[in-house]
Amino acid sequence: TTLHCETILKVNIHLNQNPTGFLGSEEFVHFYKMLTQRKEVVELFQEYSSDGQTLSHCDLEEFLREEQLEGDRSQEHALELIQRYEPSDTAKANHTMSIDGFLMYLTSADGSIFNSEDQRLYQDMTQPLKHYFISSSHNTYLLEDQLKGRSSVEGYIQALKRGCRCLEIDCWDGSSGEPVVYHGHTFTSKILFKDVINTVAKYAFKTSEYPVILSIENRCSVEQQKVMAQLLKDILGDMLLRTTIDGKVPSVLPSPEELKGKILVKGKKIGGLESLDADNPVSGEVSDEDDSSELRRDSLTTESLPSDSKVSRCVHSILTKELSDLVIYCKNEHFNNFEHARIHGKPYDISSFSESKARKIIKEAAADFAQHNARQITRVYPSGLRTDSSNFCPQDMWNVGCQMVALNFQTAGLEMDLNDGLFSQNNRCGYVLKPEILRNSEQQFNPDKPQDRKDYCPLILTIQVISGQQLPKVNNKVGSIVDPFVRVEIYGLPADQATQETSYIENNGLNPCWNETLEFAVHTPELALIRFVVEDYDMATKNDFIGQYTVPFSCIQSGYRHIHLLSKDGTSLRPSSLFVNINITEAS
Ligand SMILES: *[C@@H]1O[C@H](CO)[C@@H](O)[C@H](O)[C@H]1NC(C)=O
Ligand SMILES: *[C@@H]1O[C@H](CO)[C@@H](O)[C@H](O)[C@H]1NC(C)=O
Ligand SMILES: *[C@@H]1O[C@H](CO)[C@@H](O)[C@H](O)[C@H]1NC(C)=O
Repeated sequence: TTLHCETILKVNIHLNQNPTGFLGSEEFVHFYKMLTQRKEVVELFQEYSSDGQTLSHCDLEEFLREEQLEGDRSQEHALELIQRYEPSDTAKANHTMSIDGFLMYLTSADGSIFNSEDQRLYQDMTQPLKHYFISSSHNTYLLEDQLKGRSSVEGYIQALKRGCRCLEIDCWDGSSGEPVVYHGHTFTSKILFKDVINTVAKYAFKTSEYPVILSIENRCSVEQQKVMAQLLKDILGDMLLRTTIDGKVPSVLPSPEELKGKILVKGKKIGGLESLDADNPVSGEVSDEDDSSELRRDSLTTESLPSDSKVSRCVHSILTKELSDLVIYCKNEHFNNFEHARIHGKPYDISSFSESKARKIIKEAAADFAQHNARQITRVYPSGLRTDSSNFCPQDMWNVGCQMVALNFQTAGLEMDLNDGLFSQNNRCGYVLKPEILRNSEQQFNPDKPQDRKDYCPLILTIQVISGQQLPKVNNKVGSIVDPFVRVEIYGLPADQATQETSYIENNGLNPCWNETLEFAVHTPELALIRFVVEDYDMATKNDFIGQYTVPFSCIQSGYRHIHLLSKDGTSLRPSSLFVNINITEAS
């Protein structure tokens, strides 16, 4: 290999002296360093290079066909990659790729494990809203915990920037005649409803043009509800959806495409869209979350709460017509049972479940739940006992087709990695089309028996974890070098949940080489997410997190690929990466 590197070095020096040569001396030194650390890439290059020094256009084509399984792309694909990644103009003109160009390509978006086609807006956006997973946030105004944490419009800005399309707003009477937003019965700080709506108006469509849904938890008096309705109309103007899009009673929900640029209010409604029973205000529960009751049952936390939280909910609020009229396609409806919903449910009804209730239903009737969710939208929110703003695993809820799985966006970790992973496809627009098996309300799909479906076709996913590049240090101890290992985790239907890991390599964060092959059977690829986690092995204590990357199975590219690692809070750790070889075959 030393010899190969020297040869390449000579070629490079040659290019460098050439007046049309592209590499500057600094870049050159950088590449030389990278190359000497990337023995496995040099070997791969040698394997496909006919003359041992460059990849001709045909050599590259062969590599793309044999290894990357991109043979079905156009004849020009190899040429395009040379044009895009080859730094030397001479080589480019000659339709060849140097080792520099090869490494550039492998570490680029085209060489990423995430298929760049799927990063674009590639899904059909004209299906009814219920057929999409919708990126959803819980208690969006909270930046910290659920008891004493800070409330801020910053929570809305961050969530919207991450592509979130369903925001939660808990509204209570404010002291100056204006509604305020905070987590009722707690010491969380209060912000003005008006400020929240102004922020939404400003940021709603900065990252995605698809509709934003405001999940309003209304605990206000009649007077302040009127103020709320007026503020929504005044501030949001034309963005606020105030009638059905064609003025008719809908038999099916409109699509994200039809609702582009619109803000929808989700809440209780007097009557339905059919009979506008305006003079009969709804009394009773006007909010669909009841996490404070769960809180009250937990005697430990109750001690630290303001005294009014210990009073059971006896105030029966009245919903005003003004606010009710703003609810068009997202009407909160109490869930009785599936039978009742099938007979009486309207396309615009939405039921909310706490995670524990949802889990109970999944355990008892997963297939019925999935079928219900092919007909109408379900929202799931974290248990009120999660006062630390921790999250539940959203995958269990996606498995049965729940559309709005609301997470505490402020809390980094596995659950938000899965959320970011799922919604990283489709241009991060916050809507991901559910797989066909979860959109068909006629045919039942049983998440507990994936093998019963008509077009059952399990796959074998083989991942050779080859090497790691420039992994960051994880703690500040002087001279501490990481002992990295890679764990691959599959999230999906219960039958697909699995994890496997490589062994650890002592004292090498710069260029660890594992060369280990992990193999998984995936029964329902449409619902699977793959999470790659790198940790620092520690014999005595808990392993330290180094980085992770989560990708939907359906967006994975085969062949030699780089995985660009993310930090705990989802930011890029470039140039830290993993180099893997992916092979997907049908299970025999
Ligand atoms: C993928 O694995 C299968 C089964 O082991 C093997 O036959 C095939 O050659 C592999 N494909 C690639 C591109 O390595
Ligand atoms: C251009 O390609 C030809 C044929 O592959 C090769 O002989 C020649 O050395 C190449 N020239 C350069 C500058 O790489
Ligand atoms: C890993 O595999 C590559 C390519 O086959 C080989 O060059 C390298 O020596 C191997 N490294 C280890 C640590 O096994």
